[in-house]
Amino acid sequence: MTVGEAVVYSLRGVTQRYGTREVLSIEQLAVRRGEILALVGPSGAGKSTLLRLLGFLESPAGGELTYAGQVVDADWPDLATRRRVTMVFQRPHLLRRSVAENVAYGLHLRGNGQAGALVGQLLADVGLSELANAPAGTLSGGEMQRVALARALVLQPEVLLLDEPTANLDPYNIRLIEEMTRQVNEAQGTTVVIVTHNIFQARRLAQRVGLLLNGRLVEVAPTADFFDRPQIPQTAAFVHGEIIY
Ligand SMILES: Nc1ncnc2c1ncn2[C@@H]1O[C@H](COP(=O)(O)OP(=O)(O)OP(=O)(O)O)[C@@H](O)[C@H]1O
Ligand SMILES: [Mg+2]
Repeated sequence: MTVGEAVVYSLRGVTQRYGTREVLSIEQLAVRRGEILALVGPSGAGKSTLLRLLGFLESPAGGELTYAGQVVDADWPDLATRRRVTMVFQRPHLLRRSVAENVAYGLHLRGNGQAGALVGQLLADVGLSELANAPAGTLSGGEMQRVALARALVLQPEVLLLDEPTANLDPYNIRLIEEMTRQVNEAQGTTVVIVTHNIFQARRLAQRVGLLLNGRLVEVAPTADFFDRPQIPQTAAFVHGEIIY
């Protein structure tokens, strides 16, 4: 395997700017194929912004972002490749349709007529079979997050980007979403980048954890090192629940 194949994304000096304000500046980051990488950090640190860049929803203001070894620009990734990366948003919007139609929608858009069996399987996996025909608008927050995850997983992505997928959920829903995430990672080798405010979740799920602070990735380390042997005092403070700037 070449180095290019082992690394899904590589970032060098990647910045993002809104107006004149620079909100992200990543000196260096490599996301490895098949890993679960958790991104943590205070509100406003730039976690969602970084995830949007990885999802090709925005272009960096500067620097170089590569995907599968090629520089991301207007021509790369092509549409088919972009579709191999799916994102579950911090506040998912569901269509005013049934639960099953929400889950099937992406497959229909992609011209896949075989949606039925896969949608049924995913709904069962996230424990929503009984609600398949319910209008999505009637779901609880936890159920909606599960639909959002099923809607992403039905596309069998190479990369799954999760933006606080379990915020405000109860322990049952948190566990279910974590189990699904771990399962697709293990069974299908799906690369996962998860943004979370829950450091215990990062510890449970991720192989590596990165801390974002004021738009900068100040530490990235294997999970045990991140929590038990942090390299910088800010990581130690964050892990202990102290406010950091
Ligand atoms: N479209 C935008 N226009 C202007 N400013 C933006 C935009 N998106 C994000 N920002 C700003 O960029 C900074 C980083 O935002 P981002 O949403 O990435 O933070 P975050 O780490 O995900 O925070 P949270 O944990 O609260 O979700 C914030 O100060 C935010 O106000
Ligand atoms: Mg965010």
